Amino acid sequence: MQFKAVFALASTAFFASASAKDARTFAVNHFYGNGALTMGRMDPIMDPGRPATHSHAIQGGSNFNLSMTDDALMDSNCTSSIVDADKSNYWTPSLYFQANNGSFLSVPMFYMNVYYFFEATDDEIKPFPTGLRMFVGNSSLRTPPPGGAANVLDTNQGPIQPIQFTCPRSNYDIPSYPEDSDGLHGVGIQDPNNAGAGAGFPHMNCDGYASPLRADIHFPSCYNPEVGLHDYKNNMVFPSSKGTTGGKANCPPGWIHVPHIFYEVYWNTPLFADMWTEGTGSQPFILSNGDRTGYSLHGDFISGWDEDVLQKIINNCDAQQSGIEKCADAGFLNDVSTSCNIPNLVPEQIDGVLDKLPGNNPPTGWGQDEPAAKQKIKRHIRGHARGRHV
Ligand SMILES: *[C@@H]1O[C@H](CO)[C@@H](O)[C@H](O)[C@H]1NC(C)=O
Ligand SMILES: *[C@@H]1O[C@H](CO)[C@@H](O)[C@H](O)[C@H]1NC(C)=O
Ligand SMILES: *[C@@H]1O[C@H](CO)[C@@H](O)[C@H](O)[C@H]1NC(C)=O
Ligand SMILES: *[C@@H]1O[C@H](CO)[C@@H](O)[C@H](O)[C@H]1NC(C)=O
Repeated sequence: MQFKAVFALASTAFFASASAKDARTFAVNHFYGNGALTMGRMDPIMDPGRPATHSHAIQGGSNFNLSMTDDALMDSNCTSSIVDADKSNYWTPSLYFQANNGSFLSVPMFYMNVYYFFEATDDEIKPFPTGLRMFVGNSSLRTPPPGGAANVLDTNQGPIQPIQFTCPRSNYDIPSYPEDSDGLHGVGIQDPNNAGAGAGFPHMNCDGYASPLRADIHFPSCYNPEVGLHDYKNNMVFPSSKGTTGGKANCPPGWIHVPHIFYEVYWNTPLFADMWTEGTGSQPFILSNGDRTGYSLHGDFISGWDEDVLQKIINNCDAQQSGIEKCADAGFLNDVSTSCNIPNLVPEQIDGVLDKLPGNNPPTGWGQDEPAAKQKIKRHIRGHARGRHV
């Protein structure tokens, strides 16, 4: 009995010194293949067992489905992640372009990256438990974040602000957001620390080389096992630097410190550059939930990692931009000349030119600034669509 207690203490100390981090290490999870794993109105976290309210782009394990058991992903035939040990699913709303005549044109996803950050901390960083469900963001928001556009990812530094857009451009002589923007009238607000980023959609075309408009989503990294895998509203918090030194951030006692994941989703917005006029204080892109502001951008995650592989990556890998596939312990790598895709499980048209967004989400946001003529055309189109279905 006594021996066991001493042993447990010693092994805890060993692991703590093995995985506590004095400085951040990271590795980017890269995907391969044709487009995303799938796209459509599917969301087993928010709308389990039924079509979701809006369309998403989904990456990862092929056992993604309308409803899922905790270990369903582990039996996936394939994954769109290069590292085969990662059968997790990652998803965000998809993007549309609204033309002057009111039609919606789907914006192709360019690519997605998921950064795995192993932050400086006194905690032991552990893998995501299989089946962990996380959600970050708020699909109802149409107003700018109260604390401003800059990211806040530490509960000791004010209200958390985990969601941005990045608009990579050849230069920022004309800012991506008007300096006087209040974020309520047709365009978002600039991140004061980063000319490339802001909250809400920018009003300039994002013409950076191989880098169009990018949705940026940070997830919290503290998991409360007492709340459990399913309660995505309460099971995660961001870490805190309170009482730490050296830039470390820790989880509350009893919580599990998991990797900080960060989604970058690039959308091929330059395809539409000739169809709108930039720099006028408004912009044409709209999230699949009908949000014209971009403030409601959000992300979802279900873990399907081989936990042993992820623990080794956490402990030993700092491959950074070259990717998790370059980690010595990453295991089997998928052939990037192949593709892992599954069908849209809610069969309906989501691509091309649409007269309404999938799920019929009306455009909302930016107060009353939409021109009356545009409203009239849209009403006509909606009336027409209704007529057809009656
Ligand atoms: C999704 O679930 C349905 C119903 O359980 C099942 O028939 C189908 O094979 C599943 N699809 C995938 C891609 O796993
Ligand atoms: C998995 O592979 C089997 C065998 O090739 C196939 O029958 C099945 O439909 C596949 N399931 C999924 C979800 O791709
Ligand atoms: C509206 O404009 C877009 C872009 O020019 C075009 O592709 C679409 O066909 C038009 N829609 C209708 C209903 O005419
Ligand atoms: C989401 O935003 C809406 C609108 O501001 C707000 O009423 C709601 O409380 C928010 N939900 C959460 C979970 O914060």
